[in-house]
Amino acid sequence: MAINDPIARSFLISASDNATMKRLVFILANAIFILLANAAQADHELLNRDILRGESLYHANCAVCHGAKLEGQPNWRQTLANGTLPAPPHDETGHTWHHDDNYLIEYTIYGGQGLMNRRGISGFKSAMPAFGELLSRDDILSVLAFIRSTWPDDIKAVQASRNASH
Ligand code: HEC
Repeated sequence: MAINDPIARSFLISASDNATMKRLVFILANAIFILLANAAQADHELLNRDILRGESLYHANCAVCHGAKLEGQPNWRQTLANGTLPAPPHDETGHTWHHDDNYLIEYTIYGGQGLMNRRGISGFKSAMPAFGELLSRDDILSVLAFIRSTWPDDIKAVQASRNASH
């Protein structure tokens, strides 16, 4: 049936526009949902971990440099004569919580030098060893979860918000 009435025609067109619009809104809503779900998942990587195991792994592997109380080495902001930095604290006075989970995980797996090499950054001398061959990914997540567990809630929230961006 041919529709000659211009008003009926424009009604049909806007009705189909409307359907397209609804489809678009639906697609957008899904995209936003997937983004949010991924952000929540990124945040979850350090959640529900074995904190006690993380704590003992921390004392066995990290405390020698980062301190038994996560206090870091003295004057940790000042570069040493050999060009490396001392180990920073992992408590809320350091900058561990300034970074997203992914960075912290990769820093621990590859070490400072390894990660900078992977990211194509040269001229940075790091004293942070790579643990990727010593500890499993699960162990590394547990250690980082232990470190995270010592932060006050507001710091935890700020750090978690950095995970949303990727
Ligand atoms: C031999 C000393 C040493 C040991 C052992 C060590 N670290 Fe480090 N770590 C460092 C130093 C030094 C830095 C400072 C940055 C650099 O030089 O790369 C650092 C930096 C880091 C950073 C980045 C922090 C930031 O704010 O940028 C993370 C994460 C980290 N260490 C985690 C760990 C974990 C987890 C362990 C134990 C599994 C560990 N480290 C063991 C020396 C050490």
